[in-house]
Amino acid sequence: MEIRGTTKLTGLFGYPVSHSLSPVFQNAAFEHLGIDCVYIPLEVKPENLEIAVEAIRVFNFVGVNVTIPHKRSIVNFMDEIDEEVEILGVVNTVCNKNGKLKGYITDGKGFVKSLKEEGKFTVKDKVAFILGAGGSAYAISGALVREKIGKIYIINRTYENGIKLKEHLKEKMKFTEVEVIPFEKRNERDYWKEADLIINTTSVGMKEGDVSLIEEKNLAYASFIYDIVYNRKTELIKSAEKLGIPHLDGISMLIYQGAISFEIWTGRKAPVDVMRRRLYQFLTGEGYNKKYGD
Ligand code: ATR
Repeated sequence: MEIRGTTKLTGLFGYPVSHSLSPVFQNAAFEHLGIDCVYIPLEVKPENLEIAVEAIRVFNFVGVNVTIPHKRSIVNFMDEIDEEVEILGVVNTVCNKNGKLKGYITDGKGFVKSLKEEGKFTVKDKVAFILGAGGSAYAISGALVREKIGKIYIINRTYENGIKLKEHLKEKMKFTEVEVIPFEKRNERDYWKEADLIINTTSVGMKEGDVSLIEEKNLAYASFIYDIVYNRKTELIKSAEKLGIPHLDGISMLIYQGAISFEIWTGRKAPVDVMRRRLYQFLTGEGYNKKYGD
């Protein structure tokens, strides 16, 4: 990659950003398609977010990605927001069109696309069990509803948060086929017989020694398991491997949400295979210190 006088800019607003993997696969995509653009990490402290957004216009960035802790607060600084942002209240992608900034959220779409394209799994009319009721669960469940999922079971440590997600799906998405299973009853076998798709959206599994929230015997009914954790192989993924159940981990979602951002910025189809290959090369290469993220 050669930086010239004509090179355009994209990047990631976050705090911290040093752990980010996005520069690795976004720059691989620009390079592969010969697009004169770079993706750089941009450490933005919360108190500087507003002037950082102004800098998108000043430096004529093509756009940026946005991560913790700015995903919610940046919405206020957008000129326009995508319909999904209106529902979820968070932005992870900003696109700059002649100084007009539009905010998007690509997590849910990225999840569904990775499930379809890499996982070869069709969502329509299936029964999904979602572990967790945080930001990722909102994005993923919303995307599943758009793809006409048949039923969603929510299992969350804090029951009230599970209920809030259920109410959100009812009110904002007009989806009523949703049930919350109390956390302490999560391993009761009867529920699991219905499961087609099991998704872990919690942070459980990120740390060494984390045990799976669901007993292995209950997983056997599922035809697909997805764990959005991507910094290590979780016990859930190890069980899926052992049971021979098709599965994906968070690396796939990371790549696909980034691919959708890339497509929003460039109007070109993202070279997903190139992006994935470069990321795996990076992750298995020397000098990589295992502290990574979006
Ligand atoms: P994200 O935006 O990545 O989804 P989040 O909004 O902080 O992150 O949500 C984290 C989710 O993981 C929540 O559903 C949380 O459950 P609570 O609602 O009870 O907080 C869940 N979670 C985090 N740590 C957990 C643990 N040790 N066991 C079970 N669930 C956990």
